[in-house]
Amino acid sequence: MINFKDKVIELLDEKISSLTAGEIEGLIEVPPSYDMGDYAFPTFRLAKEYRKAPNAIAEEIASSMEGNEFFGKVQNQGPYVNFFIAREKLAEDVISEVMDKKEMYGSSDMGEGKKVIVEFSSPNIAKPFHIGHIRTTVIGNSLAKIYKFLGFDTVTINHLGDYGTQFGMLISAYKKWGDRQVIESNPISELLKLYVRFNQEAEDKPELQDEARYWFKELEHKNAEAMELWQWIRDISLKEFNRVYDMLNIKFDSYAGESFYSDKMPEVLEEMKEKGIMKESEGALIVDLEEYGMPPALIMKKDGSTLYTTRDIAAALYRKKHYDFHKNLYVVASQQNLHFKAWIKIVELMGYEWAKDCIHIPFGMVSLEEGTLSTRKGRVVFLEDVLNKAIESTRSIIDERNPNLENKDLVAKQIGIGAILFQELFNQRIKDYTFNWDRTLSFEGETGPYVQYTHARTNSLLEKGGFNPEDQISFNLLTGEDEINIIRMLYDFPGIVVDAMDKNEPFYITRQIVEIAKAFNKFYNSTQIITGDEEAKKARLALVYSTKTVIKTGLGLLGIEAPNKM
Ligand code: ARG
Repeated sequence: MINFKDKVIELLDEKISSLTAGEIEGLIEVPPSYDMGDYAFPTFRLAKEYRKAPNAIAEEIASSMEGNEFFGKVQNQGPYVNFFIAREKLAEDVISEVMDKKEMYGSSDMGEGKKVIVEFSSPNIAKPFHIGHIRTTVIGNSLAKIYKFLGFDTVTINHLGDYGTQFGMLISAYKKWGDRQVIESNPISELLKLYVRFNQEAEDKPELQDEARYWFKELEHKNAEAMELWQWIRDISLKEFNRVYDMLNIKFDSYAGESFYSDKMPEVLEEMKEKGIMKESEGALIVDLEEYGMPPALIMKKDGSTLYTTRDIAAALYRKKHYDFHKNLYVVASQQNLHFKAWIKIVELMGYEWAKDCIHIPFGMVSLEEGTLSTRKGRVVFLEDVLNKAIESTRSIIDERNPNLENKDLVAKQIGIGAILFQELFNQRIKDYTFNWDRTLSFEGETGPYVQYTHARTNSLLEKGGFNPEDQISFNLLTGEDEINIIRMLYDFPGIVVDAMDKNEPFYITRQIVEIAKAFNKFYNSTQIITGDEEAKKARLALVYSTKTVIKTGLGLLGIEAPNKM
């Protein structure tokens, strides 16, 4: 595609001798509104070279550039040279490119040969997979897709919380009160009950804690009974989690969780000892991080057991060796900021310059509006229930509005889940937000259903109008205000995908496709797309097709489906 900004730089570079191309680039602005052009160049810095007032300089440069093929108009406004992209050229450039690349429009090979690990979701086994897990799951999934679309070799990892002293408790509790059949009928709730009961009883009977420690030790030493129970707990938990991953169409390349690193621990501890970064403190081993404004990090407890931090250090070392990553991303709540800052610092202190490529991607909290789900105090809200509720509500909206729709169940699932994902990915990640059912499921406003509905609308227009991608298109018919508005946004889309990757912020894409949908609906309302004028119809359908394609790609990068009918 034509890089119009580069064209501005080239044109200016020919005229200006006192600035380098790089300096010119740095000065170019995007005007606040398109009435003032697509790009603007301030001339203040040229007073010396031109020996004139900035206004006069701008006028001189602008008039010398009139009538070039990329910019229909170059005009000065005060001290600025304003460049107006030639609309027909832009339309041709964008639409030809979309027609050519189709759903790969916006993709790139910039990541070729670079491996990016996206670690996300990572729930703790034997615990509920609840609404709090939605953010890491959805943001991580989207980031993995974005990196992949840009050509990175992406590896998704679910770093399951499947290790630690709590499994000693679970094993003890199971041996005392557990019933395999009862647990298998409702694994997470029953395991949670056992865990809670164990903790309650341990308040009066501290010897239970010793028992739990004993069983965790046995687990670490691969006692067959402990291993069998642990494996079973892990399997039934994963089965539960997978139901949700299936609903969301999420797959992981690896489920190497905390337990995976248990046998890699001694080597890591040895290395840390050798490098002299640990010290003893009351029988335990710590790394002192005072110098970096952090509390000491506990690496090994007095009883020899390792910790969450130790496992993260071991995991990073393993991943570097095994994957040789370019970036290693962790999509984990901002509550764990300190944890990540600490262990990444430790890896740096171990002398690994690649510590900087381990990147924590934090996000804020999601809370539920009181009363929207039956959130009696303390009751966990399972993610699966939220998704199912969204699907059911969507299903009843469809029954009301479009009772004859085919595949109602499938579409209800695509819209219901899409609505939730869209809302999740609508804001900057770090912002806390409150989940609101009505807003999420609305077909109006900036919502998933609204964008999906716009996509379905483009599809029915293409069908009704008999769109043929082989048709010759008169691009000069797409230069009206409403058309060019959409085309500009389609033009920006590839750059926005790159921004989303650079900042690890899927919401750039969410916002862009909402804006495209809004611009499209404005065009739809102002223009008879399927008209008797064949020339006009062909051109408009090509724009409809381009809009459909970009919306679909954008939704796909967010992990959202784009049904053709709804
Ligand atoms: N299992 C942890 C939790 O539920 C999240 C793990 C995050 N990843 C990591 N490498 N520490 O809080």
